[in-house]
Amino acid sequence: MLKLNRKIAQLKPSKSVTLMAKTKAMQQRDKSIINLTGGEPDFATPEKICEEAYLQMKSGFTHYTDGPGIPKLRQALAEKLRTENHAPYQEDQILVTPGAKYAVYLAVQAVLNPGDEAIWLAPGWVSYPSIIEASGGVPVAVHLKWEENYQITFDALEEAYSEKTRLLIINYPNNPTGKVLSPSDREAIAQFMRSHPDVLLLSDEIYEHIIYTGYEAVSMASVPDLFERTIIVNGFSKSFAMTGWRLGYLACSYEIFSVVMKLFQHTISCTSGFLQMAAVTALGCSEDTEKMRREYEKRRNLLYEGIRRLPGADMLKPEGAFYAWVKFDLGMNSEEVCNYLLEEGKIAGVPGIAYGEEEKVCVRFSYAASETELRRMLKNLEALLTKKKR
Ligand SMILES: Cc1ncc(COP(=O)(O)O)c(C=O)c1O
Repeated sequence: MLKLNRKIAQLKPSKSVTLMAKTKAMQQRDKSIINLTGGEPDFATPEKICEEAYLQMKSGFTHYTDGPGIPKLRQALAEKLRTENHAPYQEDQILVTPGAKYAVYLAVQAVLNPGDEAIWLAPGWVSYPSIIEASGGVPVAVHLKWEENYQITFDALEEAYSEKTRLLIINYPNNPTGKVLSPSDREAIAQFMRSHPDVLLLSDEIYEHIIYTGYEAVSMASVPDLFERTIIVNGFSKSFAMTGWRLGYLACSYEIFSVVMKLFQHTISCTSGFLQMAAVTALGCSEDTEKMRREYEKRRNLLYEGIRRLPGADMLKPEGAFYAWVKFDLGMNSEEVCNYLLEEGKIAGVPGIAYGEEEKVCVRFSYAASETELRRMLKNLEALLTKKKR
């Protein structure tokens, strides 16, 4: 038998990526399936961004570029982080990566030694625990609760802490719950970080521009005494409908940066120049981002009003991102609910277990889908749930 890397071989496949591919394949055979599994904007990348990439490609900007990112993009990102996020990173503290996912991977690899623990908040993005494991670390989940509105408390963080804790990973606006950091969440995190000076904070802010009326996305890097210990991860996939471009970035202290850079140089070298020039254009596309945000907000309202009145279902009101986090009271666990919805109602969602949800009763539906599809989903769901109640 082949002897392969046990750490990597033992990783579980990403449930959401697998389900997305499986549902797409099913849709080829059955066009009536409503695929709400993907975390992928259904909008086209804004025209201006595509034009810029095309022009740059035509003009020959198609060779290796400065490793950590072209100066124009790093300068623009430093300006954005300073003015929008109140996180005063210099341009040479910013690394442009092929997607935010790889930025998370680089940061976690750079920070953890074998056996070190990293705390992540569940329900949370499927890849955090696997990336921690791939880096030789031990993921420690803090299970936030539906009944407590997924509030973060100092006590819950403290309970997960041990002498081996080196990293706390947070993601707000959150995938899958749609929560943003409330002032009390921020205070709990700050208190925890102040109690443990050798713990670093990784803040994944990839949904920061998809934020609904009445809420704001505040970065923990804006807290002056936490700034040096915070690594921001962000990217272009969600805000600018650029998932396929594979462009993200991280910003961190010089000390962390020098370690991250070594791994980056030996694994990626650089990201493409014409894509980075288009990313500079993207940063100036706030009107397009706002148009998409308004559309997501309309869809959020449609689903929230539609689902909450159905028997056996309850939905958390998303404050940001584009996911409906729905709790089902059908006497089934979330995987059974997903199978039932797919087989009987042609609705495909991702079971809460994929996000480490403890209660196993929630399903995530992405509303990065057309209003027509969402209305069809509501109709099918209503028919199923009312039949079930009878
Ligand atoms: C919380 C979170 N972080 C990171 C990513 C990855 O983004 P990218 O496409 O930039 O790799 C996703 C994508 O689903 C996500 O939901």
